[in-house]
Amino acid sequence: MSRTKIKEILHAKDPSSLAGKQVSVSGWVRTVRGQKSFAFIEVNDGSTLANLQIISEDAETIAQLQTGVSLTATGMLAQSPGKNQALEMQAKEIRVYGPCSAEKYPLQKKRHSFEYLRTIAHLRPRTNTQGAVLRIRSALAFATHLFFQQRGFIYVHTPVITGSDCEGGGEMFRVTTLENLARDPSEDFFGKKTFLTVSGQLEAEIVACALSDVYTFGPTFRAENSNTSRHLAEFWMIEPEMAFADLKADMECAQDYLQFCIRYVLENCMEDLQFFDKFVENGLLERLRHVAESPFAAITYTEAVDILKKAPKKFEFPVSWGLDLQSEHERYLSEEHCKKPVIVTDYPAGIKAFYMRANEDGKTVAAMDILVPKIGEIIGGSQREERLDILEAKIAALGLNREDYWWYLELREFGSVPHAGFGLGFERLVLFATGMENIRDVIPFPRTPGHADF
Ligand code: 4AD
Ligand code: MG
Repeated sequence: MSRTKIKEILHAKDPSSLAGKQVSVSGWVRTVRGQKSFAFIEVNDGSTLANLQIISEDAETIAQLQTGVSLTATGMLAQSPGKNQALEMQAKEIRVYGPCSAEKYPLQKKRHSFEYLRTIAHLRPRTNTQGAVLRIRSALAFATHLFFQQRGFIYVHTPVITGSDCEGGGEMFRVTTLENLARDPSEDFFGKKTFLTVSGQLEAEIVACALSDVYTFGPTFRAENSNTSRHLAEFWMIEPEMAFADLKADMECAQDYLQFCIRYVLENCMEDLQFFDKFVENGLLERLRHVAESPFAAITYTEAVDILKKAPKKFEFPVSWGLDLQSEHERYLSEEHCKKPVIVTDYPAGIKAFYMRANEDGKTVAAMDILVPKIGEIIGGSQREERLDILEAKIAALGLNREDYWWYLELREFGSVPHAGFGLGFERLVLFATGMENIRDVIPFPRTPGHADF
């Protein structure tokens, strides 16, 4: 008999119509309650948060069942007298695949800390929280493609191995086959120094300057030694890039995209969101509805600095025009001052990357960051410098090697267009949508300084 996913049973449009049907489900036992000859078995297959309750009256089978055991159960669905579920199964046959030692299996009934669960990342997906995180993560990835594809953006695959440092931070992992790193890079695999990419933006710009609207969605690497709850050494980034677009269009696209994602999970992941609202962040659903419905605030960097200077709050880091905003400042602006996501624009040129378009004032660039409550920066973007002479001067002033950017400069020489884009840190979006606190808990296999386990 072919397998039915538990979601199809418990989330059926009309569960009562399934009563009396014979089905086969497969999954892992969460709990067994009962006696030798009669047991309630809660089975989960990951398709949905809820377990299917299976009733067995076979003493021989019941004796083999423990938390963690994998099985296939075949039997009749019946309306459940219990108030937790509409349907349950009266098992006719249970086939056990893998036993699971009650003494050794760590995921017994009691709740474990998220920190401990990270040390057992091979079993962590079997917990309610991680299952819900992974389903929402998958839904947000799907919503991302849906949003951009519906708007006619072309999905491009930019390289993971690259020779250029897009963000200019020098926080790159070197990729090499040299045994001795003192050897000349010309002897290396690619005949030069190469790295894992920190952003697909520069390559996305190339394609946008031909296909107009494009987006990337791929793994991104940063060798920054930031042991915070918001940083990973390997994370996923979505980077749309639009030709014939300015900063205003960029801001609109970013807000629409964020709101689309939140609406998508509100419409498609309610069971998991209710779980997070109850056990992880009380008030999550209300917060998400507010984000989905109301327009974001927008202020300039200069206004942000004024607000922070007047804030009735002591910050650890100094606030002064020209200094970068720290996460405590970003959180104050969105959480306490605006009480919603806020787009901060027009940052000082000195604290932003080389490719951002110079503003008329000669001091600021057409940058925008979106800051959200609890997290701070979730999106960073800008209009790009499309004027060849200005970009050349900038590259020279920063002491960058012109040769490394010859193709980037040629894009400004051959049919240059105003264009803009942004990058969204996917794990920060998952944090935002679930209320989870630590970025290590929203990616199945986190990479952070000192940790590349599993
Ligand atoms: O602000 P960032 O560095 O911008 C760029 O990389 C641009 N090239 C984007 C563009 O315009 N196409 O990074 C973009 C976003 C941040 O706002 C943040 O959400 C996320 O990427 N991010 C990280 N997420 C997790 N761990 C890290 N170490 C991150 N660094 C950045
Ligand atoms: Mg940034």
